[in-house]
Formats: sequence, C-alpha cells, structure tokens
Amino acid sequence: MQTEMDRVDRIIYNDEYRRLMETVRNKETDRIFCRHGLEHCLDVARIAYIMNIEQGYAIDREIIYAAALLHDVGRADSEDTGRKHHELSVEYAGRILEQCGFSTQENAQICDAIGSHNTDGAEREGLAYVLYKADKLSRNCFDCEASDQCYWLESARNTGIKY
Ligand SMILES: [Fe+2]
Ligand SMILES: [Fe+2]
Repeated sequence: MQTEMDRVDRIIYNDEYRRLMETVRNKETDRIFCRHGLEHCLDVARIAYIMNIEQGYAIDREIIYAAALLHDVGRADSEDTGRKHHELSVEYAGRILEQCGFSTQENAQICDAIGSHNTDGAEREGLAYVLYKADKLSRNCFDCEASDQCYWLESARNTGIKY
C-alpha cells in the first residue's frame, strides 16, 4: 500500500517554507539546546505517525507530516516580533498549506494541532495529542551536553528511547 505524499513534498519545496526553515537554521547555529530544523520536524513526524497507528487514530499520513513539518516555523520570527512561536507557526502554516493543496478543513485541523503543540496538547486527542507528545519524545535528553542548563524539568526529560 502506498500513501500519497505529494502535498508533503510540496511543503518541503515551498519557497516560504524553505525561507522560514533557513532562518530558523541560521538563528540556531550557536544554540546549545535542542534545535528546530528539518531533522527535528521529521523525528516528530515519524514518532507521531507511529503513535497514530498505536492509538488507532487512523489520521492520514500527509496530515501528520504536514503538521510536524510546519509546527515550529514560527521560530523564524518569534524573537523579533515578541510573539509566541506556536501562534506564528499557525499563521505561516495556514498560508503554506493553502499553497500546497490542503483543503480548508485539513488546514484548520493541522493549524489547530500546531496551535496546541506548546500548550494544551497533552490533554487533547488525535492529531493535537500525537503532535504534542511526539515533539517532546523526539528529544534525546539522555545524550544531551546542555542538560545542566536546560529548562526542562527533570521529570519531563526523556531518560530512554520510546520510539
Ligand atoms: Fe515548538
Ligand atoms: Fe518542536
């Protein structure tokens, strides 16, 4: 069985997406903590997709990957604008998803999950839940050189591998 991923490929080649991700990459060059580039986004996508199967949500793979690829794009401008990155990500994602062929309904579902990924995602279900959870589980705290300076609570850190 092959799942259609054309629209996800449109995101990774989208001009605005590439510009935003390049800005994030450049801003984080000297960052000692976890970064938010394509590698992080794909870790989140793949973990979220595994969780989606395990939980029996049956969310379309394109929807999960689109949400994961776009969830942190707001970091490109959050410092300069003083706005929260998940809120900015929702705005940018909405525009990019429209350009990449996602329907109004899909756009709303993805943006809703992105808007929750840093806030109430733990208490949600479906896409919002797997995005929130995968975002946290994607971090290799057990192998982190900056752990003594990280703001994550000890109890929230990943001490082993789940996915
Ligand atoms: Fe984030
Ligand atoms: Fe993230």
